[in-house]
Amino acid sequence: MKLAIISLSSGSSQMIAEKAKAFFDEVDMLSIKKIEVHLGSKNKHQIIYEGKPIKDYDCVYCKGSYKYALLSRSIIAVLEDRCYTPLLPESYTLGHDKFLTLIELQKAGIEIPKTYLAGTVEEAKKLVANSHFPAIIKIPSGTHGKGVMFADSVESANSILDALEVFKQPYIIQEYVETGATDLRALVLGDKVIAAMQRKAPKGELRANIHMGGKGKKITLDPDTEYLAVKSAKSIKADLCAIDILKGLRPYVVEVNVSPGIQGLTKATKLDIADEIAKFLFEKTKEYQAVKANKDYKKVMKELKQKDSNEFLANLNVKAGIIRLPESVTASTNFKPEDEVVIKVSEGKVSIEKHDIEK
Ligand SMILES: Nc1ncnc2c1ncn2[C@@H]1O[C@H](COP(=O)(O)OP(=O)(O)OP(=O)(O)O)[C@@H](O)[C@H]1O
Ligand SMILES: [Mg+2]
Repeated sequence: MKLAIISLSSGSSQMIAEKAKAFFDEVDMLSIKKIEVHLGSKNKHQIIYEGKPIKDYDCVYCKGSYKYALLSRSIIAVLEDRCYTPLLPESYTLGHDKFLTLIELQKAGIEIPKTYLAGTVEEAKKLVANSHFPAIIKIPSGTHGKGVMFADSVESANSILDALEVFKQPYIIQEYVETGATDLRALVLGDKVIAAMQRKAPKGELRANIHMGGKGKKITLDPDTEYLAVKSAKSIKADLCAIDILKGLRPYVVEVNVSPGIQGLTKATKLDIADEIAKFLFEKTKEYQAVKANKDYKKVMKELKQKDSNEFLANLNVKAGIIRLPESVTASTNFKPEDEVVIKVSEGKVSIEKHDIEK
């Protein structure tokens, strides 16, 4: 099987490409800067690299900065029906714009800090005049923390807004979430968080990004926060992304990173994240191909997971919003009242698994 990583050839992309060689027969690194998308008549669109059409890849992982959001979306729009792509076309335009991401998160019922968008300085100034302080002012595109500013008064907010005028971008005004200058970064692969860290901003700084000098420490997310991260990824249709969470009184999601760097997370967690991503891309590509070849999807999934389970066909008993399972189901799980479990939920599906503290 053939994999292409289309990127800005960052260290993270190279680490993944290196590990992917153990799974894929061919791994190509393509620079997103050299890609063209040629539109032909129906289904004849082509992705051109250095003047030639690209190979028939089985998997294409496309990542890059917000400047390439439209190009990434176009590349994947052409390829999504031809091979496995861990992100869908819309993941790029949504993920690379903080405000559009927040709209999707909110639609999915995920808690976000109170946020406003203003198109002009005048409107933004009206919004901050009614804000609590400190207030956060951001620009919609990702900047590794550099486009995130803290204003402690109307006066400082106004001068920040005047300075931001040069960027010619809308203004995001956001409620400040008190976290002791920390945030959580969770890397989601499919239905799981495979690694997470807590980042702490350096002294005199409130932004916890590693690029801003933040220090990462490995953490294991509690099931609720893991569920929140996976749900956030799904809200922008990404199988592979990183979620930034602020743990205030409640956890708030502030950002979904569709082009996450893995060096900071690898260093903090000592996990081989590049290898996990490479393995994940390979497994998902196999799954994609099996489905495409019209095999029985359930059978394939069973083979892949090598799991055996009993299936029950029953009408669901829901009373006052509570799902009641038949006694026979409870009996075959062997669950005890004191057991701690991980509950995973998505639309039309719920699974309950005993929490394995050894894992
Ligand atoms: N509403 C907020 N309240 C408190 N702190 C915040 C808030 N929003 C952001 N921060 C802090 O600033 C950091 C950067 O914010 P955010 O993740 O929104 O943008 P970014 O990291 O610059 O974007 P990108 O990762 O796309 O480059 C966060 O990790 C967090 O430490
Ligand atoms: Mg961030």
